[in-house]
Amino acid sequence: MKNGYEALMKNLKQLQKRVSLCPEKGIVLGSGLGDYAQQIESPEFVPYAELEDFPQSTAQGHMGRFVFGYLSGRPIVAMQGRVHYYEGYEMDEVVRPIRLMGLMGVKELLLTNAAGGINPSLDVGDLMLIEDHISSFVPSPLRGENREELGPRFPDMTEVYSARLRRELTRSAEELAVPLKKGVYLQTPGPAYETPAEIRMFGALGADVVGMSTVCEAIAARHMGMEVCGISCVTNLAAGLGGKPLSHQEVGQAAMEASNRFAKLVSAFVALNGQK
Ligand code: HPA
Repeated sequence: MKNGYEALMKNLKQLQKRVSLCPEKGIVLGSGLGDYAQQIESPEFVPYAELEDFPQSTAQGHMGRFVFGYLSGRPIVAMQGRVHYYEGYEMDEVVRPIRLMGLMGVKELLLTNAAGGINPSLDVGDLMLIEDHISSFVPSPLRGENREELGPRFPDMTEVYSARLRRELTRSAEELAVPLKKGVYLQTPGPAYETPAEIRMFGALGADVVGMSTVCEAIAARHMGMEVCGISCVTNLAAGLGGKPLSHQEVGQAAMEASNRFAKLVSAFVALNGQK
């Protein structure tokens, strides 16, 4: 059985040789949000390609590097581009960057993504705070031998998305006058978009949005005890709801248009005080 733990530890050593900073918070910058990394002060860049046997971002609009530095005077790390399951990696490889951030010191993690809107109350361009998720359509990143050093064999998933961070982000969004909806995110393996029948099924199961990332990352982060929150940008109405075929271009365009509002919420996350 393949054991991702050795590879994880090897990458950790490589990363620690490159950067001395101990980041408190981590941010995964999804589609259209990559430019946010330009705001990071005293940045140190570590391209994924410089880490041995590390999964690479191949998706268009995903740069593929860690950016360590400061935001509002706080040490942070951002992933400028993530790794997706549909790129062909095993789930434990997909979440290796998340685990690395945790081992580097990250206590609070913000996951962002582009998603298709299923709930009819969602419009293109809406930002949605993730309240919960459905992971049942993708393999678990925790499958295989468990390493107690990372977390327990059977981790509780009652509150994947921290109630505290959700409350605080909701308050920040109100203060910033950035409309923020709430809902449940469902991950599919991708890379094909869904069929209209699948979207009807996902809606009936309780999903408000659908995407191809985030859930596996949230599970790996919670396994390690990180506090997690997530925000989706609704870049399109899900298949069959918008009356036209879906395209990656449309998704990228809508994410770009929302990026200013999105960036305000990312900054609000960074500015939040840590857990008492
Ligand atoms: N489906 C899956 N993933 C997505 C979508 C979608 O409609 N939009 C953006 N990512």
